[in-house]
Formats: sequence, structure tokens, C-alpha cells
Amino acid sequence: MSAKCAVVYTSISGNTEKMARAIADGIRASGCEVDLKDMFYAKADELVDYDGLLLGSCTWGDGDLPDEALFFYEELDDLSLQGVKAAAFGSCDSNYDSYGAAVDLLEEKLRDRGADIVAEKLKLELLPSDEDTQMCLEHGRAFASKL
Ligand SMILES: Cc1cc2nc3c(=O)[nH]c(=O)nc-3n(C[C@H](O)[C@H](O)[C@H](O)COP(=O)(O)O)c2cc1C
Repeated sequence: MSAKCAVVYTSISGNTEKMARAIADGIRASGCEVDLKDMFYAKADELVDYDGLLLGSCTWGDGDLPDEALFFYEELDDLSLQGVKAAAFGSCDSNYDSYGAAVDLLEEKLRDRGADIVAEKLKLELLPSDEDTQMCLEHGRAFASKL
């Protein structure tokens, strides 16, 4: 049976969503099953059956997660991710001091819940270029190879 992966993202203006879609394409191209979920509608307890979990978010406010991510983020506290391979990603803006701080928060949460962080967090600047999109695809492939 092929490994099963979830890519759960929140994206206000579409940049992180573009990353999420390319990462999911890379995972799929490696022969793994992948479900792409918007964090606003996702339920943390749906994640227990996955071998791999990628969480993505833009950074909002002053180094915060956007409001749309908060319910899911807090729900994660009730979940054990022991044995799940995981990583975090997101689109950021280097004009802000707290560059991509939401990605750091997601990675910390994954680690805190017992997930095994198998890839460096991926922070990209604003709207992914074609080259960035290719990088996300490769990131997805590399992640899948760890499952
Ligand atoms: C009100 C506001 C606050 C922001 N704060 C940060 C921040 O603290 N750090 C950061 O790296 N980017 C920050 N950004 C930039 C966004 O994260 C960036 O535009 C990102 O590409 C948006 O991704 P999205 O299209 O997935 O929503 C902020 C943007 C806005 C509008």
C-alpha cells in the first residue's frame, strides 16, 4: 500500500496555496497518495491516518498565524503525531522582522506533538516564481522519499 500524506495549508492571498499545490504534486509524482486541505476547514483529528503531514501558512500580524489557522492550530494540542513524518512551509515577506514566523510556529507544534521532522522548513518570498514552484515540487518529492 502506498504511503498517505496530507498537505494542510492556510493562505490569505494564494501564495502559500501555490506552494502547497506544487508540494502536493511532487508527492503525488512520487507515487504517494496525497490529500490537500485548507486549514480553515480541516479537522485535526482527520490527520491520524496519515504517514506524512506537511503544514503550511503565510505569516500575518506581527509574526503570527492568520486567524483562519488558529482553530486548527489549537486543535493540534489534542493530537499525538508520534510516528508521523512531518515538515512546515509557507510564503513570507522579508520586509518584516519576523520573517516567516508562522512557519516556525507550525514546525514547533509538529515537534511538540511528537512528529518526526524529516525536512527543513521551506520559506519562500511572496508569490512563488516558476523556479520556486519547481523547488516546491522537488521538496514534495524529497519529502515523499522519507515516508
Ligand atoms: C498585515 C500583514 C502582516 C504580515 N506580517 C508578516 C510577518 O510578520 N512576517 C512575514 O514574513 N510576512 C508577513 N506578511 C507577509 C505575508 O506573509 C506574505 O505576503 C505572504 O506571501 C502571504 O501569503 P499568502 O498569499 O499565502 O497569504 C504580512 C502581510 C500582511 C498583509
